[in-house]
Amino acid sequence: MNPATHVLIVSADPAWRQQLSDGLNQAAAKRDNPHGLVALPCECDGSALQAALVPQPQPQLQADVQVVLVDHGPSTASAASRHAAVALAQQLIAARPELSLYMLLEDDADKLLVEQLASDAVDGYFFRDEQDHAGWFRILAAEVAEKADTPFYDALRDYVAQAKDSWHTPGHAGGDAFKNSPWVGDFHDFVGEEMLRADLSVSVPMLDSLLHPTGVIAASQRLAAKAFGARKTYFATNGTSTSNKVIFQTLLAPGDKLLLDRNCHKSVHHGVILSGAQPVYLDSSVNRQYGLFGPVPKATLAAAITANPDAKVLILTSCTYDGLRYDLAPIIAMAHAAHIKVIVDEAWYGHARFHPELRPTALECGADYATQSTHKVLSAFSQASMIHVNDPAFDEHLFRENFNMHASTSPQYQLIASLDVARKQAVMEGYRLLDRSLKFAAELREKINATGAFRVLALDDLLSDEAKADGIRLDPTKLTIDISASGWSADELRDELINRYNIQVEKNTHNTLTLLLTIATTRSKVSRLFDAMLRLAKDRRTPLTYARMPEAPRFSALACLPRDAFYEAGVRLPLVDAHGQPNAALNGRVCCDQIVPYPPGIPVLVPGQVIEPAIVAYLTRLLQTQKSIDLHGLAQVDGELHLRVLSETEQARLPRRHAH
Ligand SMILES: Cc1ncc(COP(=O)(O)O)c(C=O)c1O
Repeated sequence: MNPATHVLIVSADPAWRQQLSDGLNQAAAKRDNPHGLVALPCECDGSALQAALVPQPQPQLQADVQVVLVDHGPSTASAASRHAAVALAQQLIAARPELSLYMLLEDDADKLLVEQLASDAVDGYFFRDEQDHAGWFRILAAEVAEKADTPFYDALRDYVAQAKDSWHTPGHAGGDAFKNSPWVGDFHDFVGEEMLRADLSVSVPMLDSLLHPTGVIAASQRLAAKAFGARKTYFATNGTSTSNKVIFQTLLAPGDKLLLDRNCHKSVHHGVILSGAQPVYLDSSVNRQYGLFGPVPKATLAAAITANPDAKVLILTSCTYDGLRYDLAPIIAMAHAAHIKVIVDEAWYGHARFHPELRPTALECGADYATQSTHKVLSAFSQASMIHVNDPAFDEHLFRENFNMHASTSPQYQLIASLDVARKQAVMEGYRLLDRSLKFAAELREKINATGAFRVLALDDLLSDEAKADGIRLDPTKLTIDISASGWSADELRDELINRYNIQVEKNTHNTLTLLLTIATTRSKVSRLFDAMLRLAKDRRTPLTYARMPEAPRFSALACLPRDAFYEAGVRLPLVDAHGQPNAALNGRVCCDQIVPYPPGIPVLVPGQVIEPAIVAYLTRLLQTQKSIDLHGLAQVDGELHLRVLSETEQARLPRRHAH
């Protein structure tokens, strides 16, 4: 299917906009037009423009607007109409930064005015009286071609097409090792020829090097930086897990103070161990009814920033797994005023840049670093993530050393290509696809609520009282469904959905199911899900009394740096005593590992933390009441769960630190 690209000509003058559109379309007819550029006249009126930008519902008309030309009008036009044109340009820049914006001006005096008002986000200017339709078309076509370019993917595809003999790694040599094998030949067929041929390595110089990119990978990263609004973007082939650790090691030296949300992903907690940083844990808001952890309340953040003027870094997760996103701009401003760098873990929010309903992104709010699992919500392959950098004091050399410490010297080239392609897709059609997902999400919300047995939680349900006035918003593509009125347990429902309806959900807690809508969600999938929910609602039973998640204890003090405790040998003590009671011998000991009950996936203990009776009691209660809980970080010794804690000698030897 060939793409179609709309170029909107927005002018208050109907004859003029028609004439320009005709001129551009005639120029298009005489040249190669691989991206299908078509100029369309559009009224300079907010609603007309909105209508033109909104995607067409019919699949055959799936053209995406890529370029908008805004006519500033002749000098004889009214000041109001010229002002309206500039205001419109500003609105477009604010709403759709991925669009290319050109202004049509009368003379140089206009240019100054427009530059002041519309900022440098304008991609170019044409002078009205030149009317060089062929020349203008060339420039616009080149602009679209640049955005649609995928330098790495193109080079990979071209190389594969050249069918070179492989005398290098990987050992399967483009799949030849599998071919014709009676034992593993089926893997060749399953994975596919091109995928195997594209599994190449740094031995192929024309494909650049992820560890020292100067060619096609560097070019792809530059395009990604432009698309996501970063000064620099780096592709990571080991997920946001590694991306977070790389940034930590770049910014934090051993002993440096770091403010972090206790609710952060485990990679962040691992980053604390690796960097040797001194963490100050901030308690997240907790929604006790649903066992969901939300953002850290603004007041807690403000107090932590004030109390820790020596902190180097603040890291936040936005949005959370459940779609809660901070009102980041004022928080980042507070941190910056205290000279604290801000990293935002946007593992679940890589799509936000491409729809006004999801913006602003962390970078747009002033974050210094943002890490995104492009694979989670956009179309990159699993493990493919991006690190975006806007830190004005960014030390690229140091970053590179840390990046290379974590990166494999044999990255998967398909992952890099998938990042290139995912960026292109987000820029070229992300808005349309996200718009569709948002509509599906709204529709599902309404229909699921109408079943009476299930209810999609709204922002207000998800937030705890303490975070209600913090300007937190919800990413509507993440649907958390309260199942308590249905009489089904979450585990039963999850099993019914997969076994009877072939539907795999993202996750569940004791009384919720979470569904993730992405740019790949289709109408058929929406109807199948709704049909299943409707049938399950018809089979509703007497509502259950759920064994509510025990309340997580607050973080206790750290006795030493997490890294110091982690690297000690420690001793293993059982979680429960011989009577099945919380083991009192653990009280006051210092934990060496990170203990994370899943769900909800929030650490209850980190290395260096003093174990208090409430924590042992909580872990024991979780085990006894939550059938499907996993306690990550506990060791099985002779069939019993044990915690690794510092031995008494180790505990006495370690330098103590301030308690937080
Ligand atoms: C908040 C958060 N950060 C980071 C990660 C790690 O991302 P990845 O799977 O890309 O390594 C996850 C994964 O679930 C996450 O939820």
